[in-house]
Amino acid sequence: MKMQCGSEILLLLVFSAVSGLNVPIAQPSYDGVIRPTGDGREIAYMIPPFASSHASHVQPIVAGAGLAMVWFSGTKEGADNVSIVIAHLTTANSLAWSTAFVISRRPGYSNQNPVLHTSQDGSLHLFHSSQPASQGEDNASVWTAVAPDGIGAAPGMWSQPEEIFSKAGSFTKNRVLFALDNSTWLLPMYYATGPNDDQYSHIKTSNTLGQGPWGNLDFKDTSHLVQPTVIRSRSGYPRLTAFFRDRDAAHIYRATSDDDGKSWTSPAATPLPNNNAGIQACQLQDGRVAMVFNPTTKSRSLLAIALSEDEGLTWPHQRLLENETSGEFSYPTLFQDAVTRQLHVSYTFLRQTIKYTRLEVDWIARVR
Ligand SMILES: *[C@@H]1O[C@H](CO)[C@@H](O)[C@H](O)[C@H]1NC(C)=O
Ligand SMILES: *[C@@H]1O[C@H](CO)[C@@H](O)[C@H](O)[C@H]1NC(C)=O
Ligand SMILES: *[C@@H]1O[C@H](CO)[C@@H](O)[C@H](O)[C@H]1NC(C)=O
Ligand SMILES: *[C@@H]1O[C@H](CO)[C@@H](O)[C@H](O)[C@H]1NC(C)=O
Repeated sequence: MKMQCGSEILLLLVFSAVSGLNVPIAQPSYDGVIRPTGDGREIAYMIPPFASSHASHVQPIVAGAGLAMVWFSGTKEGADNVSIVIAHLTTANSLAWSTAFVISRRPGYSNQNPVLHTSQDGSLHLFHSSQPASQGEDNASVWTAVAPDGIGAAPGMWSQPEEIFSKAGSFTKNRVLFALDNSTWLLPMYYATGPNDDQYSHIKTSNTLGQGPWGNLDFKDTSHLVQPTVIRSRSGYPRLTAFFRDRDAAHIYRATSDDDGKSWTSPAATPLPNNNAGIQACQLQDGRVAMVFNPTTKSRSLLAIALSEDEGLTWPHQRLLENETSGEFSYPTLFQDAVTRQLHVSYTFLRQTIKYTRLEVDWIARVR
């Protein structure tokens, strides 16, 4: 068999800042170039704009133009001027991701958790949280910016960011979906804190292409369950399934709605563990559900992708994307390409950059 991993030749060794154990982690080239792994994946490491990178979101852009990736980058999480940056993988240059540039930065503040959403009018909308630098999450609010051309390939293609949700502690994390009318936006969000350490999940709605005023849909019993990832179980039906990050680091939780998000069941623990870190679910075209998550209650060093055939109740197939003993591989996101049906995945790589991976759904359960 022809070995395809030569292009991943290790250029240098770095030491994991996270573990403190001086376990060497092989550092690949952070050059945006797409390379095969030899086990059936294709991967790339974003060119990191600043010292620290976290919380990516990978998104298809209009009319087959390619992909966009957003994440937050700066000195370190919570520091002044930490910015939302964007890179593109276009059909015109499909061999490498472009160099990222800043699309939202606020002196005195630290920006976080970007989410992209393509509107039914073709424009590309950014949502992210922003908190006073070095002051914790209590006073975070949510901001938005728009690229009317749906691509946003240069800084001048983006509007000035504006605050939309000012309630203290407001955070975004996971994808927007459309309501059953195919036009109302459902933006899952959460409150990072509150008067009594009150952390819970929520959905904002817009039937004005994000112009406001925004409506509200409430989950039920989500205290300490945050960062909801919501999927439509079957196109054209009002059934939604939500999965939650567990602040108490035990399980991924799951709730369902049969009325398009107006009312929800109380969340119940799934068999999947959670380490109090970000997760994301994706409804596949064939009816199955894919989940990217850390398959442990402890560290962020293992990262997995799992498949469910029953709307997320059980997860018979699971495969590791990262199998390390130290270092952080976290905050994964994914979507399925509507035409090729490939999965596109992104996640934090050692807080140094973002790793992009694409794979066939069959890779997850493939005998190896
Ligand atoms: C953040 O940016 C502002 C404006 O560019 C600058 O004045 C300030 O020094 C920066 N903060 C840090 C910590 O670099
Ligand atoms: C949040 O804002 C309130 C009032 O604006 C202020 O009193 C409080 O100190 C702020 N807290 C943080 C953590 O920034
Ligand atoms: C929304 O889109 C789906 C899938 O294309 C379609 O089946 C459904 O009829 C549409 N619903 C409305 C209200 O247009
Ligand atoms: C993960 O790595 C450990 C060694 O650290 C190895 O024993 C195990 O087989 C690996 N698991 C998978 C699924 O590759």
